[in-house]
Amino acid sequence: MVRLVSLIIFSLATILLATKSSLCHGKTTLNLVDHGITFSIFPLRLKSGLGGHYILETSCSSWRLAVEAHNIIDWKTVPQECEGYLGNYLLGKQYREDSRAVTQEAYKYAKNLNLVGDGKDIWVFDIDETSLSNLPYYAHHGFGVEPYNATSFNEWVDLGIAPSLPESFKLYKKLLGLGIKVVFLTGRPDSQRDITLKNLKIAGYNTFETLIVK
Ligand SMILES: *[C@@H]1O[C@H](CO)[C@@H](O)[C@H](O)[C@H]1NC(C)=O
Repeated sequence: MVRLVSLIIFSLATILLATKSSLCHGKTTLNLVDHGITFSIFPLRLKSGLGGHYILETSCSSWRLAVEAHNIIDWKTVPQECEGYLGNYLLGKQYREDSRAVTQEAYKYAKNLNLVGDGKDIWVFDIDETSLSNLPYYAHHGFGVEPYNATSFNEWVDLGIAPSLPESFKLYKKLLGLGIKVVFLTGRPDSQRDITLKNLKIAGYNTFETLIVK
C-alpha cells in the first residue's frame, strides 16, 4: 500500500530495496501512541526568538524528518497544518534535490561494484514513489492530509499514467549503461500487473527483465 509519505522517504535503502522504509506503510495522527507513551506533535512546535510564536515550517520539517527516520510511527495522515509545507516540498526543488542526492550515491555504489559483466547482476527497483510517482494523485488529495482512500488510489493506478521520478529514471538509464539488468518489484497486486507494465513503458522504462507483483 502506497502512502504519501513514501514520497518523502526516497532513501537509498528504498532504491536498493534492501529494506523498504516502513513509512510506506505508515500511518499518522496528531496524537501518537507509541509504546504506551502518548505524545502530540504540535505542542512540540519550536518557538521563534523572544516573540515566542510558532514557526510552522520548522515544525513540519521536524515532523517530516522524524517520519523519515521512523521515529514517528503508526501515523495515518499528514498533519493538517503541514499540507502547505508538504505541497511546497514535493512540488518545489527540494524533493528533486533529495532524490538526486540519493540516486547519485546509488550510482556511485553501482559503479564501484567491479562487476564481471556476466549478465547476472540485477538491480531491483520498487515502483511507487521510486520508479513511478503518484504525486499527481496526491496533489489532488491534500498531499496526504486526506485519509488514504484505497478505492480512489486504485482508480488512479488503473489509469496507468503515473510519471517517472526523474532522478530515478536517470539512475535506471545509467545502471543499464553499466550492464546491470533491472527488475521491478512492487507491493501492487497481480490485478494491477498489466497496467503497471503499461505504465512503466509509458514512463520510459522500456528495458527490464520482469515485474514482480505481490
Ligand atoms: C473514496 O473514493 C471513492 C472513489 O473516488 C469515493 O466514491 C468514496 O466516496 C471515497 N471514500 C471516502 C471515505 O472519501
